[in-house]
Amino acid sequence: MTDPKDERPVPQRTPIVGLCEAGEYYWCSCGRSKNQPYCDGSHKTSNYLPLRVKVAEDKKVAWCACKRTKTPPWCDGTHAKLPPGEGGSASSGPKSISLK
Ligand code: FES
Repeated sequence: MTDPKDERPVPQRTPIVGLCEAGEYYWCSCGRSKNQPYCDGSHKTSNYLPLRVKVAEDKKVAWCACKRTKTPPWCDGTHAKLPPGEGGSASSGPKSISLK
């Protein structure tokens, strides 16, 4: 169930899946970044802050792109429960990410 008070944009209704190199990342929690899933500073006019994420080793990950996950920054399947019309197309496939 999604939070009815959550008015953040939904950049994408599917996770951003790909191989992630070990390192430190800042996951966009506000939904406004133009560089999803990463923060680009656009949160400055919102009440949200980026989430610092340390990835210990190279691994395949699924970043949440709907911004409604209960396990940020990782996808937990919540995007499948979003109301119709919120965010992008549900039928679009996962977006791949480039390595750091
Ligand atoms: S741009 Fe969304 S948290 Fe920074």
